[in-house]
Amino acid sequence: MSFNTFGHLFRVTTFGESHGPAIGCVVDGCPPRIPLTEADIQPYLDKRRPGQSRFTTQRQEPDTIRILSGVFTDDETGIQVTTGTPLALLIDNVDQRSKDYSAIKDSYRPGHAGYAYDVKYGLHDYRGGGRASARETAMRVAAGAVARKIVPGLQVRAALIQIGPHEVDRSRWDWAEVENNPFFCPDAKAAAAWADYLDGVRKKGSSAGAIIEVVAEGVPPGLGAPVYAKLDGDIAGALMGINAVKGVEIGAGFAAAELSGEDNADEMRMGNDGQPRFLSNNAGGILGGISTGQPVVARFAVKPTSSILTPRRTVDRYGNETDVVTKGRHDPCVGIRAVPIGEAMVACVIADHYLRQRAQVGASPAWPFKKPSV
Ligand SMILES: Cc1cc2nc3c(=O)[nH]c(=O)nc-3n(C[C@H](O)[C@H](O)[C@H](O)COP(=O)(O)O)c2cc1C
Repeated sequence: MSFNTFGHLFRVTTFGESHGPAIGCVVDGCPPRIPLTEADIQPYLDKRRPGQSRFTTQRQEPDTIRILSGVFTDDETGIQVTTGTPLALLIDNVDQRSKDYSAIKDSYRPGHAGYAYDVKYGLHDYRGGGRASARETAMRVAAGAVARKIVPGLQVRAALIQIGPHEVDRSRWDWAEVENNPFFCPDAKAAAAWADYLDGVRKKGSSAGAIIEVVAEGVPPGLGAPVYAKLDGDIAGALMGINAVKGVEIGAGFAAAELSGEDNADEMRMGNDGQPRFLSNNAGGILGGISTGQPVVARFAVKPTSSILTPRRTVDRYGNETDVVTKGRHDPCVGIRAVPIGEAMVACVIADHYLRQRAQVGASPAWPFKKPSV
């Protein structure tokens, strides 16, 4: 009924809310004997952690991960590995400040989930948005770190490609640059301009939206299934399931509508390795819902943070009109911290489909096929 679980064979269930004592997840279906320690997970959480620059919320959460179950250290090897039983992962919430929200206890923040939750459940957890808070996404990032270990050779990276109206210049794209600035921006020049832009947004008590691009390389061909388990469908669902995401596209996405059939079709030639070479990747690495072996490319749009210092008109739980100003600590652009979350969701979907492919098909047939002789 409650749908706090996603994935089929790589199955993630998260629990917890913004101002509870802890958040956590159970990852079920992780294969056994995969080396796994906290050190494999923590670096990804550190990328998503709040309070790392003036461009993200100043809530100070160390987000220290603990593995509670599902691992075992073999005496002979001394290596901690997964056991194939449920992995339980936990992070303590240490920096909740419920009083920040007391002024909006009964009013709804326009753009936030409070009203919708209240009309559904008859409850208003005003403390940071309760389960609607993006605290929960830390557990997706933790699960994503496990997912990355399941698919050999998989590399999932993401970058922020637009803040407000300001896009990166793709000719300056440098993956190494993503680690060098507080925006996960692949274009150093754009990152410098964004800093000024976002300072202005923050000082005005406003917020900005963003677009993130996720690129998964090393995705084996054959992942995904017709018709209700298309890889692109599942990726879109997973990305759309991230807080504040309002749009998802795969490959050329919405721009495909403007292309001619000639330009959109990814032409094929044989590569020197005996495998096909696609001359472009408008499909984003997925045809018919099934991966082709090309990089899987997805983009998602994140709306501007709804908690802003500028007064907004709203109503309260009792039907009165009022204005709301959200004090407290908020990200001026939640798209920044959505970068590692997007990576994690794509990694989880790919790991799930990798295990499903292994279960149903096993080893893929050798391609190209031999023409039967007549
Ligand atoms: C990393 C991250 C951090 C977020 N932080 C905030 C925040 O500080 N304040 C806020 O109003 N919304 C924040 N959000 C967005 C809300 O969680 C989201 O808008 C809300 O739950 C309503 O859901 P919806 O926007 O998907 O409809 C954040 C989202 C993400 C991805």
